[in-house]
Amino acid sequence: MHSMPEPADRPRALSGAQPTADSYHLGNYFGAFKQWVALQDEFETFYFIPDLHAITVEYDPAQLRERTYIAAAQLLASGVDPERSALFVQSHVPEHAQLAWVLGGIAGFGEAARMTQFKDKSAKSGSDSASVGLFTYPILMAADILIYQADKVPVGEDQRQHVELTRNLAQRFNHRFGETFTVPEPHIVKETAKIYDLQDPGAKMSGSAVSHSGVVNLTDDPKKAAKKIRSAVTDSGSEVRFDPVEKPGISNLLLIHSALTDRPIADIEAEFAGQQYGHFKVALGELVADFVDTFGTRTRELLDDKGELDRVLAAGAARAREVAAQTLATVYDRSGFVPGAIR
Ligand code: TYM
Repeated sequence: MHSMPEPADRPRALSGAQPTADSYHLGNYFGAFKQWVALQDEFETFYFIPDLHAITVEYDPAQLRERTYIAAAQLLASGVDPERSALFVQSHVPEHAQLAWVLGGIAGFGEAARMTQFKDKSAKSGSDSASVGLFTYPILMAADILIYQADKVPVGEDQRQHVELTRNLAQRFNHRFGETFTVPEPHIVKETAKIYDLQDPGAKMSGSAVSHSGVVNLTDDPKKAAKKIRSAVTDSGSEVRFDPVEKPGISNLLLIHSALTDRPIADIEAEFAGQQYGHFKVALGELVADFVDTFGTRTRELLDDKGELDRVLAAGAARAREVAAQTLATVYDRSGFVPGAIR
């Protein structure tokens, strides 16, 4: 009967990307989604849209709903294959929040307070207006990962500390209550772990950037995207050479070129040897324009059929819940809750 290996025979990978902008950007795509897609060959994969995380900052409900659909469409357009991956929305799988509460009982206040993303984000809003949810956000993220017994978590560099916290919580729970959780590894591809803002090559490309002139969104108008690349801040000098210390701007563009074309950086340097930055930026601008053109068209097609998106997400959530419910039952049992508390 079973010509395919049972899913449980394969190690598991899990990741998520927040629906907090009208589009994901090139940093999300190269830092995360490209890896998500590649891992589908060898891993049993769980990819989700963390809408519960998205409500930890001020937001608009109607906009969140729309952005969640956009996120689903863009993940599918990136190559997440619903035949091979459970693609779902976090709020459809209540076990995430249930496990987060249990983990909250073993997470230290101090270790949560040391999370650099919390410090950055709460500094932005002013620590008085930062929500409690923003503070416990990494605990929910740990639950997202541990509820699936994930082996690998493909993310960009900015999520490394959260995965490290997840590992600590898993080990602590296992130690206190008996082997329960797989201790996950981050999967961070060095070259694309941090794509930088085109206008500020010292900062990561971010959907929450004040100005989007340095952020290429995956559904940007192709002409606009090409212009953003052509206007990228580049360094003094003129040689197209990879040198992140002396030439952060050009090096970021070389990384984007290499990630987009799957060519080694040395190859691209050779192609533009003796040419000005301008030539290189025009050429890369055209490549990026083609990419967002195709990506945007595919995203709009998918968004045209929300019924189909709903079906894909429902099937993904059903598969996710099979695994999540099992883990939660074990966790509740180990935690000393009287049977019958769930289901
Ligand atoms: P988020 O939504 O900010 O980003 C989604 C993914 O994109 C990566 N990324 C980048 N990679 C390279 N260069 C950049 N400039 C760049 N910007 C973003 C992020 O590292 C991430 O992999 N907390 C997570 C969402 C989350 C999650 C999870 C991830 C919730 N639960 C469980 C993994 C597992 C976040 O805010 O990522």
